[in-house]
Amino acid sequence: MAKKKVRVGVIGAGGIAGSQIKALKEVEGVEVVALADVRAEACDKIKADHNLPDAKSFSDWKQLIKEPGIDAITVCTPNILHKAPVIAALNAGKHVMVEKPLAMNAKEGQAMCDAAKKSGTVFTIGFQQRFRPDIQYVTRCVKDGMFGDIIYCRTKWMRRRGVPPWGVFGRKDLQGGGPMIDIGVHALDMAHYIAGRPAPIAASGACYTYMGNKKPETTPPWGEWDWKTYTVEDLAVGFVRFANGLTMAVESSFIAHIEQDILSIEVMGTKGGAIVGGPEQVKIFTDISGKMVNVTPSSLPENKSFAIKMHKWIAVIRGEEENDAPGEDGLMIQKILDAIYLSSERGKEVTIK
Ligand SMILES: NC(=O)c1ccc[n+]([C@@H]2O[C@H](COP(=O)([O-])OP(=O)(O)OC[C@H]3O[C@@H](n4cnc5c(N)ncnc54)[C@H](O)[C@@H]3O)[C@@H](O)[C@H]2O)c1
Repeated sequence: MAKKKVRVGVIGAGGIAGSQIKALKEVEGVEVVALADVRAEACDKIKADHNLPDAKSFSDWKQLIKEPGIDAITVCTPNILHKAPVIAALNAGKHVMVEKPLAMNAKEGQAMCDAAKKSGTVFTIGFQQRFRPDIQYVTRCVKDGMFGDIIYCRTKWMRRRGVPPWGVFGRKDLQGGGPMIDIGVHALDMAHYIAGRPAPIAASGACYTYMGNKKPETTPPWGEWDWKTYTVEDLAVGFVRFANGLTMAVESSFIAHIEQDILSIEVMGTKGGAIVGGPEQVKIFTDISGKMVNVTPSSLPENKSFAIKMHKWIAVIRGEEENDAPGEDGLMIQKILDAIYLSSERGKEVTIK
C-alpha cells in the first residue's frame, strides 16, 4: 500500500536544511513543498541543488506556516529563531522538527514543549547522533544490564581549531553560546541517551575565550571566521549531576590546544564500561571469569544517522513508530547547557529544576 503523503515546509534554507532535504527525498511519499529564508538566493540554491522546481519560496516564515496543504515543518534557522516558528507551527497544528539545540535557553524550550503538548502533534528535536550505530549498540548494552548501574560518563566533542566561518556560530546573541551549545549539545545528548535519559539536577561549568575574538595568527584550516563579531567561548567544560546518582563530565571547544579533534563518549558502570569514538569505534571493558577483558563488536552497520533521523520523524508522524527524539529530550539537555553557562558566570554549581 502506498504510504500516506507528508508535505513538508522548511524554514531556514541553509546548510542543515540541504542535508535534511537530501534525506527527506529518500523517504517514500514525502514532498518538500515550501521553503522560507530571508535570503531569496538560499531558497533558489536549495531548489536547484535538490531538484524542487515546484517548491514555493517565502521570504517570511510566517507566510509558509499559513500556506495550506503543509503537514509538517522543519525549523533550520539559527538558534535565535527556533522558538517563534516552532510555536507558530505547532499552534497551526503542524508536526514539527527543530534542529539542535532546542532553543537559546530552557525557558524558550519549555514554552516550545508546552505548545507541543497543547497541539498534540509530533514535536521532534534533530538529535541525529543518538541514531549512530555505535551509540545504539552501547545503549542496547546498557539496557541489557551489561554494565550494571551507569555511574559516570565522560563525553567530549573538541576541535583544535574549528570555528565555523559560515553562519553565525560565533554570535552569542544569535546562538545562545559557542561550542558547548553547538557541538557540546551532541556530546551531552549521546551520553545522556546511552545512560537512559535521567533528569539533571545540578551542573557546574567554566567557559574560556582567548583566541576566537582576535585575528587568527595561524591559518585556520576551515578559513577565517568573523572574529570581530565573535562573542562566544572557545572552550567550555562542565560537570553534571543527575537524579539517579549519575555524574557526567563534558568538554567542548571550537579552539583548544589539543593534539587533534576528538569526539568520544566514555560510559562507566558498576559491572562494565565502554568507549565510543576516539580511535576506537566501540570498545567494551568488563571482567570475565577472573580477567579484565576488552571487547569490540565484530561489525557495526554504516553510520546513516542523519537519514535515520529524518525517516523516523516521518514514521512518527505516520503513527508507525514512537518518537525516539521528543522535544523533552532537547529540553533536558538545554537545562544542562543553561546551568553550565550560568555556573561559569557565577563560579559555583547551579541547581536545575
Ligand atoms: N544536527 C546537526 O548536526 C546540525 C548541524 C549543523 C547545524 N545545525 C543547526 O541547524 C541550525 C542552522 O544551522 P546551519 O548550519 O544550517 O546554518 P546556516 O547559516 O547555513 O543556515 C541558516 C539559514 O537560516 C536563514 N535565516 C536566518 N534568519 C532567518 C529568518 N528570519 N527567516 C528565515 N530564514 C532565516 C539564513 O539565511 C540561513 O540560510 C542551527 O540551529 C544549528 O545549530 C544542526
